[in-house]
Amino acid sequence: MNNLFKKYVSHAAKFNKVGVDLGLYLSKQIIDAHNGSIYAKSYEDNSNVFGFILPIVTESAKIS
Ligand SMILES: Nc1ncnc2c1ncn2[C@@H]1O[C@H](COP(=O)(O)OP(=O)(O)OP(=O)(O)O)[C@@H](O)[C@H]1O
Ligand SMILES: [Mg+2]
Repeated sequence: MNNLFKKYVSHAAKFNKVGVDLGLYLSKQIIDAHNGSIYAKSYEDNSNVFGFILPIVTESAKIS
């Protein structure tokens, strides 16, 4: 869980899949660049939830 959003951390081979190991890393870079946050939760029944939060920029907060 601690390494999930790092570059080149993949467990795809373990599940007989091919991965380039950048998917979650790039997702985090993009979401961080928008001042948001991304998270992952893992449950005991082997289900996982991934999500992200992005701030809403209001009209008055925009740089004119
Ligand atoms: N939706 C998901 N459900 C469960 N585990 C996931 C999910 N997405 C990623 N993971 C886990 O996190 C690891 C890293 O994901 P990441 O997307 O960075 O790389 P990848 O899926 O292996 O390759 P790719 O860069 O092609 O997406 C995966 O190998 C997998 O173990
Ligand atoms: Mg992926």
